[in-house]
Amino acid sequence: PACNYDLISEIRELADRQGVLILAHNYQAPEIYQIAEKIGDSLELARLAQETDAETILFCGVDFMADTAKILNPQARVLIPDPQARCTMAHMAGEQAAIDLREQYPDAEVVSYVNTTTATKAVSDICCTSANAIEIVDSVDSEQVIFLPDRNLAAYVSRFTRKEIIPAAGYCYVHDAITRESVDAMQKLHPGAVFVAHPECRPEIIDMADAVCSTGGMARFCRDASVSSFIIGTESGMLHRLRSEVAEKKFFSVAGICAPMKQITLEKIKACLTTGSGEVVLDKSLMDAARVPLERMIEVSK
Ligand code: 13P
Ligand code: SF4
Repeated sequence: PACNYDLISEIRELADRQGVLILAHNYQAPEIYQIAEKIGDSLELARLAQETDAETILFCGVDFMADTAKILNPQARVLIPDPQARCTMAHMAGEQAAIDLREQYPDAEVVSYVNTTTATKAVSDICCTSANAIEIVDSVDSEQVIFLPDRNLAAYVSRFTRKEIIPAAGYCYVHDAITRESVDAMQKLHPGAVFVAHPECRPEIIDMADAVCSTGGMARFCRDASVSSFIIGTESGMLHRLRSEVAEKKFFSVAGICAPMKQITLEKIKACLTTGSGEVVLDKSLMDAARVPLERMIEVSK
């Protein structure tokens, strides 16, 4: 609609005038892509947030992503257009689970997915994302690894490491809901399509996948693969990125939408830029503690 174009140019003007870096996760709504300077997966966006000289970062994504940007770049002012955009998994199996599991397995290191709160990161040894989880688990010194919060990502990593993984019980409600039946039905509708899944999917879905990648990895995989159609096992917003970047190929989704991701709207972004609302404010000592596992991750997966 015409009003969106006005809003988009107003936002771009405001951001440019103030030197604000706008980052957006791949699952953001199509109109958010138009105002973002960079679109990417959790690891790509964390790196960009860490490296930028911009005084303000406006993060279009969910809570833990904006928090991660702040932790990695504490001098910057980080704004999130809706602080209530909370990744549900990041609030499962958190700080207390890490403490309890450590007591039970004193020799194990704690690897926490970036989809966690700052308090959980603060009691973790190293973080990981879906793009580097196997590499990170293999990099730690201990033979036993406490992995939280995602039970599905833990199960996925277990397939590729000799380490003993002690999983927690968290999960992503979008990926965990993908069923064999829906993948089966889509494969019957589109024979020859390659099935690409996110590692947050259940093990039985991973078994059906031709490739498993982070959202950033999917974009590269689909661009480079020599096939022309794909069934995508991740949040359906990903299709927008794939269709716009790889326009000559076909993409079909078997997943639903992540409601927290869609809480970010153009109106909220404009409000953020005009009033400075939605600033991420974290406890300094918690932030300092959470920076250790995040920086360690970035160092390992350089
Ligand atoms: P990516 O790091 O692969 O983008 O995943 C983030 C996420 O929240 C997946 O649900
Ligand atoms: Fe969190 Fe799942 Fe949404 Fe990713 S898709 S942000 S894991 S709730």
